[in-house]
Amino acid sequence: MRGLILSGGRGTRLRPITHTGAKQLVPVANKPVLFYGIEALVAAGITEIGVVVGDTAEEVRAAVGDGARFGARVTYLPQAAPLGLAHAVQIARPFLQDHPFVMYLGDNFIPGGITAVVAEFAARRPDALILLKRMPHPERFGVAVLDGERVVRLEEKPARPSSDLILVGVYLFQPTIFEAVDAIEPSARGELEITDALQWQIDHGRAVIPHLIEGPWIDTGKMDDLLECNRVVLDMLPERREGTVSEDSRLVGKVILEAGSEVRGSSLRGPCIIGERTRIVDAYVGPYTAIYHDVVIERSEVQHAIVLEDTVICDVPKLEDSLIGRSVRIARSQRRPQAYKLMLGDHSQVELP
Ligand code: G1P
Repeated sequence: MRGLILSGGRGTRLRPITHTGAKQLVPVANKPVLFYGIEALVAAGITEIGVVVGDTAEEVRAAVGDGARFGARVTYLPQAAPLGLAHAVQIARPFLQDHPFVMYLGDNFIPGGITAVVAEFAARRPDALILLKRMPHPERFGVAVLDGERVVRLEEKPARPSSDLILVGVYLFQPTIFEAVDAIEPSARGELEITDALQWQIDHGRAVIPHLIEGPWIDTGKMDDLLECNRVVLDMLPERREGTVSEDSRLVGKVILEAGSEVRGSSLRGPCIIGERTRIVDAYVGPYTAIYHDVVIERSEVQHAIVLEDTVICDVPKLEDSLIGRSVRIARSQRRPQAYKLMLGDHSQVELP
């Protein structure tokens, strides 16, 4: 079996972070979310992986490389424009040839992995196996209607969903999917939808079978979901202490210190992770926080947040429920007037107390 990971798209729901970077590379517990997907494929025995890339191709290539560090072989498949998931399948055809494959959306996260589903697909050999999950707001996703064990209808983001079963971004296909992706027309949003290709298969009597997932699944396309994903992963990780901690610091609970990190005069309450070469000085870092590499947090309190590399946060009394980008500087000014002075990227969001 081969793997097809989608790592293109615009990431509009994560702006401004995605103005300058791929949404699939935003770190969750200090590891790009895309890496968890690659690891899930490799754990399921799939090591020949095609990665579909768009505008952020260079960044994705630089992060993933040839796949050797994951025990995989990665082939990059450039998609000229984000024309839909079924379009990605079309362009990947020369790579996939006549192998069955798993398509995995690079911003999706399934803590339980996909090993069991891959085994089920291999044993039952349907045309397609789709992962479904009950969700409170199905209108935001592809929605499936079942009749017992049979999928009877699929709709992409319907205004009035007829079920609460949504399509998780992991699909297993036989090469019969190629006929379906070639037969469908673009949707109202101008994309070739994989949901429509699956419906085409159902309409043509092909076997499309569901697999309901009970454990968590997170589409990390929005900030709240990223923070949730960060919580789930921080709860799963083992403790690691590779940094230095001064005697007057206090660490409580699971605190992960990556190589070269430094904690001085500070209080850290886990689960949290502090990245390589990051310095926490006279500060407090609270639960469910991931501070990435080369960050400085000084005389500040941060919790339930993700902070990306090279950022400096000084004299900020309370920062929480936040996603802070790369090379950001948040500090207190001594000069008059004592006002909020902001330089924010397009689509930034600031909430003041
Ligand atoms: C895509 C699919 C949708 C699925 C979702 C899962 O939506 O079209 O059916 O439920 O991924 O993440 P998109 O993220 O492209 O809006």
